[in-house]
Amino acid sequence: MSHKNLADMSSLNKELLEKLTKMGYNTIESLSWLTPDELAEEIKVDIKTAQKIITEAISNVDSQQFSAADLLLKEKQKQRISTGSKNLDELLGGGIYTGEITEISGEFATGKTQICFQLSVNVQLPNIQGGLDGSVYYIDTEGTFSSTRVAQIASERGFDPTKFLENIAVTRTFNSDHLMFLIMNVEKIIRQRNVKLLIIDSIASHFRAEYIGDNKLVKRQQVVMSLAETLKKLLDQFELAIVVTNQVIATFDESLFDKSPHPALGFAWAHRPHQRLLLRKGRGPARIARMYDSSRLPDRECIFFLAKRGIVDTEK
Ligand SMILES: Nc1ncnc2c1ncn2[C@@H]1O[C@H](COP(=O)(O)OP(=O)(O)OP(=O)(O)O)[C@@H](O)[C@H]1O
Ligand SMILES: [Mg+2]
Repeated sequence: MSHKNLADMSSLNKELLEKLTKMGYNTIESLSWLTPDELAEEIKVDIKTAQKIITEAISNVDSQQFSAADLLLKEKQKQRISTGSKNLDELLGGGIYTGEITEISGEFATGKTQICFQLSVNVQLPNIQGGLDGSVYYIDTEGTFSSTRVAQIASERGFDPTKFLENIAVTRTFNSDHLMFLIMNVEKIIRQRNVKLLIIDSIASHFRAEYIGDNKLVKRQQVVMSLAETLKKLLDQFELAIVVTNQVIATFDESLFDKSPHPALGFAWAHRPHQRLLLRKGRGPARIARMYDSSRLPDRECIFFLAKRGIVDTEK
């Protein structure tokens, strides 16, 4: 977060300042996520001016200082939720961490939602069983939450399904405004229900359906950024893990070396997750998870399986 206001920026004259405020850019941070091209187009200035403004914005955000020792301590206090698969837990450095946003992306039926279901059960377990003794807030943007399937996972693992279902609060969202509204007002429910896991399945669907066309892109980026900022604030405020699923899109850019499908929502979102998992299908119920872009772990892969009892390590 920046401690300065837009009005303090030396690269903005009065006219530009007014223009930006009118367009909804109210913080220095909101500018720092634009590319010079986007800003130049948005406020009709030349690239050089846009570059200057963005450079100043970037140099003003995240200037807060922590000692590395403080950060290590904070890192060590993070708790973990088991995914149900040892392989997947190891890939993630021990499981899904509190204090972090973990993104799970992949094509349809790769197991994104199944992992969310499994985590919704596991987070309720005591520490020694890989949980956090906490409850779940599940935001379902695609209408695919299934109580029956969650109950199946719980009972297949020897737990009382009713008890587990009671500790999952589910809201189905209908558009991105609704999603934003819920996230902005989620604090109360986190406190009331001892929520340790917040799931958004998926983060991309509303945005991709509503903001179509190049001229909507900047607006979409702004909304996605403000959603990401709110999620980050929740992590500062509460001891909880955030898991979001994301859709993938095909790459048409011929100049890119890696042409495999990549997560949606672009630059505004790409830097926000602490951990990014990309799933793909193997043979039958086998799935391959690739971990990449992690701030603390090397890129690598593992195999897990989708089974009646949820996420498992072997095909049985
Ligand atoms: N009861 C079950 N027992 C075993 N496997 C199951 C069961 N239910 C679902 N699956 C597996 O999970 C797959 C669907 O995975 P999931 O719903 O997590 O996909 P997804 O990645 O969320 O896809 P989408 O992008 O469509 O949301 C099914 O194709 C099947 O292989
Ligand atoms: Mg799904």
